[in-house]
Amino acid sequence: MRIKGGRKLLELALSNIIENALKFTPADGEVEIGADKTNEKIYIWVRDTGPGISPKDLPHIFERFYRGRNSIVEGSDLGLALVKSIVSAHNGEVEIISELDSGSEFRIILPTDTNNNECL
Ligand SMILES: Nc1ncnc2c1ncn2[C@@H]1O[C@H](COP(=O)(O)OP(=O)(O)OP(=O)(O)O)[C@@H](O)[C@H]1O
Ligand SMILES: [Mg+2]
Repeated sequence: MRIKGGRKLLELALSNIIENALKFTPADGEVEIGADKTNEKIYIWVRDTGPGISPKDLPHIFERFYRGRNSIVEGSDLGLALVKSIVSAHNGEVEIISELDSGSEFRIILPTDTNNNECL
């Protein structure tokens, strides 16, 4: 299964999500990474048992310089804005399932290069 795209950019997007999971999840928590595929799509998910994201913050976390109430570590706050633009440039989507005090799952969904679609 192939994705047409910028390898370095996709690595950057994935590493941003993994870094967030590691940064926000307490030392006794868990971070799980996995991938799956269908004929048309590739799914990569990063799941953590961290603090979760409040429903109030959720619609805003892809905005540049947005920092949620659980933000504890200094950063540029550009991480998820960058993730979103890289994935969108590959005609993909980022989905988040998150519940406060229970954890988060970030999914990168990318189209495969099966039918000459407009991947970069
Ligand atoms: N796995 C996660 N668990 C809980 N909250 C998260 C998680 N990932 C992101 N967030 C929330 O989304 C906000 C935006 O994330 P983003 O990666 O853009 O910024 P950051 O990690 O604070 O800074 P930077 O990535 O630039 O170092 C975070 O400040 C945090 O509130
Ligand atoms: Mg980040």
